[in-house]
Amino acid sequence: MSRKKVTVVGGGFVGSTTAQRIVDKELADVVLTDILEGAPAGKALDMMESGPITGTDSRATGISTGNGDYSATAGSDVVVITAGFPRKPGMSRDDLLKANYDVVKAVVEQIVKHSPNCILIVVTNPLDAMAQAALKVSCFPKNRVLGMAGVLDSARMSTFVAMECKVSVENVHSFVLGGHGDDMVPLPRYSTVAGIPLPDLLPKERIDAIVERTRKGGAEIVNLLKTGSAYYAPSAAAVEMVEAILKDKKKILPCAVYLDGEYGIKGLFVGVPVKLGANGAEEIIQIKLTAEENAALQKSSASVRELVSVLGL
Ligand code: LAC
Repeated sequence: MSRKKVTVVGGGFVGSTTAQRIVDKELADVVLTDILEGAPAGKALDMMESGPITGTDSRATGISTGNGDYSATAGSDVVVITAGFPRKPGMSRDDLLKANYDVVKAVVEQIVKHSPNCILIVVTNPLDAMAQAALKVSCFPKNRVLGMAGVLDSARMSTFVAMECKVSVENVHSFVLGGHGDDMVPLPRYSTVAGIPLPDLLPKERIDAIVERTRKGGAEIVNLLKTGSAYYAPSAAAVEMVEAILKDKKKILPCAVYLDGEYGIKGLFVGVPVKLGANGAEEIIQIKLTAEENAALQKSSASVRELVSVLGL
């Protein structure tokens, strides 16, 4: 059996950490791309040289796509797109939106030429709008384009719940729906500690504080790092999705997918529970929401729709 192949587009912190985790877990051979010359090759070789110590035979290759040549990515099973600009001082949200749309569009056009059967996982922000752009540009069926955000946001919530309850993170299961923005929708009712729903365990104000911290989880890291944003948890989240697909696990994870009427949302990428397997998003799981939860989800999706309409998607 030949090994699977994953391309990671963008050799920044999120991309290179994603590549490293895939190599460490021996999930696939990895091609790491960047527009920079030399850096992706150096990072990939450095990763390979850790193989004799960590015990992985996954190959890592780094290529520069500055010349527009993506041929080394050919035949990838999964492609994780992390390339894009971080927000710089003076840049509006819309400026970032348009700049990253241009990046994602150019990348996806090349990727689909060389890997027409791959599954795309978009990580570039603003996440939901970039996933929508990738779907449109790729012309792929909707099951093969996913956005990574819910796994990350849920992991953040689980971290805060475990800290609050002083229990193992392995006991905690959290559920966050909606777009990857300040109005994402953490669902305490569906979040559990050893199977016990949060509202049965914690007072409302503690739950509210956890919800708030989860919503602002990305900004909390940005403020601490000063330059750049989170990458350990984002890469771990992307790799959980990659693993579920490559191993055809049928694992239910919150992911951004194109909704076509599910949850009353049509024609838009929003985070919902999805069954991930060899065919990508194999099923959208519809859970029953209270009126309040549903209103929050609709509000969050309205924010995504605003971004998407700026791009005319
Ligand atoms: C985060 C940003 C980078 O949540 O989306 O960390």
